[in-house]
Amino acid sequence: YEQPNSLLNAIRGRIDYKDNKIKLGGIHDWIQNINKAEILYITACGTSWHAALIGSYIFEEILNIPVKVEYASELRYREIPINSKSAVIAISQSGETADTLSAIKKAKDKNALTMGIVNVVGSSISRETDCGIYMHAGPEIGVASTKAFTIQVVILALLSSFISQKMKIEKSRSNLESIKKVPGLINEILNLSDEIFKIAKEFINVNNFLYLGRGYQFPVALEGALKLKEISYIHAEGYPAAEMKHGPIALIDDKMPVVVIVTKNGFDKIISNIQEVKARGGKVISITTIDSQNLREISDHYVYLSNCSEIDNSITPLLTSIPLQLLAYHIAVLK
Ligand code: F6R
Repeated sequence: YEQPNSLLNAIRGRIDYKDNKIKLGGIHDWIQNINKAEILYITACGTSWHAALIGSYIFEEILNIPVKVEYASELRYREIPINSKSAVIAISQSGETADTLSAIKKAKDKNALTMGIVNVVGSSISRETDCGIYMHAGPEIGVASTKAFTIQVVILALLSSFISQKMKIEKSRSNLESIKKVPGLINEILNLSDEIFKIAKEFINVNNFLYLGRGYQFPVALEGALKLKEISYIHAEGYPAAEMKHGPIALIDDKMPVVVIVTKNGFDKIISNIQEVKARGGKVISITTIDSQNLREISDHYVYLSNCSEIDNSITPLLTSIPLQLLAYHIAVLK
């Protein structure tokens, strides 16, 4: 419930809405070096890795440069062609995660430019990196990272706009107008808590959950599944919706709730994915920014996030992740 305020704190002073300019003091002096990088790596663990994946989609869309997202625990041990023409961003709420810290040390040893997106001021990763952006999320009290996730995504969106403005990329479309609307919209989504509580009640005794999303909603599906596993101890998997037919579909029956995240991008495709789930008797919980009669009819449960349909595609994860956090929370409390 702290999400709207935390977000406001994270973006305060960083967007000048008069001329849509971004200010990121911590990396300002490094922008030339960042722009020279031929490849960008983003490394992290767990929830921060999911934010990294969304970030990579935003960067590739806006900046048109290759971005590789690596689990820090893999990057630190794998042979990987990082060099002085690479930039490596480490994302970490705590700034102390051992794998992420080692990954960034390895990147430094290979003469890459290193940057941190970290919440805890003065933490090891913030000290080890050449430059960085603090998240200003406030302390994460619980085990599960929640507001940190949304803030990591918003910082990555700001960073991509900042770089695109400096590189004078015309494609730097304004996702800033969407970001401005997010805190208010999250407040509206939090009002759906009672509705989500009722859905949660139906599923406290199931053993498995599947989460599906396409495009920007795929990392959201991964994150929704992780939150459920972590706090309710129910097994859950996140999948790209179309990939479901290459394996997990065999597991779907009437004991398998399938959470599907639906936005206007790929809408028709995801409807056919839902039909595949229904054909095997799966229970569909749709989380949607599009109010559609057809979708309502084929879903067993329908959570409609109103006023969100016009939000920029790259920014919707900030909204769609909230009902998934509420679902995991209610199931965990009810259990
Ligand atoms: C999930 C969670 C973990 C962390 C991961 C990385 O809710 O909290 O998956 O995201 O351990 O932690 P940080 O971001 O501190 O490096």
